Amino acid sequence: MTKQAPTLKDPGVPRHVAIIMDGNGRWAQQRHKARAFGHRAGVRAVRKVVRAAARAGVEALTLFAFSQENWQRPELEVRLLMQLFVTTLAREVNTLHKNGFRVRFIGDHRDFPTELREQMRQAEALTAGNGGLRLLVAVGYGGQWDIVQAAQRALADGAGISTESIEARLATGDVPHPDLMIRTGGESRISNFLLWQLAYTELYFTPVLWPDFDDAAFAAALAWYASRERRFGRVPEAA
Ligand code: IPE
Ligand code: IPE
Ligand code: MG
Repeated sequence: MTKQAPTLKDPGVPRHVAIIMDGNGRWAQQRHKARAFGHRAGVRAVRKVVRAAARAGVEALTLFAFSQENWQRPELEVRLLMQLFVTTLAREVNTLHKNGFRVRFIGDHRDFPTELREQMRQAEALTAGNGGLRLLVAVGYGGQWDIVQAAQRALADGAGISTESIEARLATGDVPHPDLMIRTGGESRISNFLLWQLAYTELYFTPVLWPDFDDAAFAAALAWYASRERRFGRVPEAA
């Protein structure tokens, strides 16, 4: 049973889009550059897609920026990514706020640099009252971690284990489950992204590498979504 199954056919625009931003390394490799070059290009794609999502009327956008498994990458790459998060966040936070976006970071942040944790907290506090696009950035995130932390909190709260008690404590909070999940970079896997929340999500896999994912590529994903018939286990609507 999933909470969000109001109608057989959803309106054409997804309320919540989640994206696995994959392919930065290969993009750089194709250009005979270091992986860092690809990650920096990836930041530019993030900026474009956030704007495009808001313009399209998407209410929530969740971006997978760093998985728990990504801690296993070479120390230098991890350090570089953290640095990129810090500088990007510092540079973009006021623009995000001006645009009325509400930012939240989801994941296990215990091993993150103190500076970054503080920045994330401040960005959340600054934008908490905004009513525009809800931007969830998944960093140090794992779908299994999310379910476990929700279950642990349910037990600590004395709420027991049930679909509802876990649902209410997931890191995505009151944001409805994604309607559309996009993975760039050509792999057809979830890589421990939102496991619970993707129960009835439409999954879109594209070979486009993340730094090349632009407005047109995003529009193509939205058009594909609009052509889906969502049944949530029911039978199709009578013609
Ligand atoms: C995604 O791109 C970015 C992060 C995981 C941080 P990758 O770095 O995984 O790029 P590929 O998959 O190696 O091309
Ligand atoms: C998934 O990409 C994680 C993010 C995009 C943050 P990966 O590149 O880490 O996934 P795998 O290793 O190919 O499954
Ligand atoms: Mg990858």
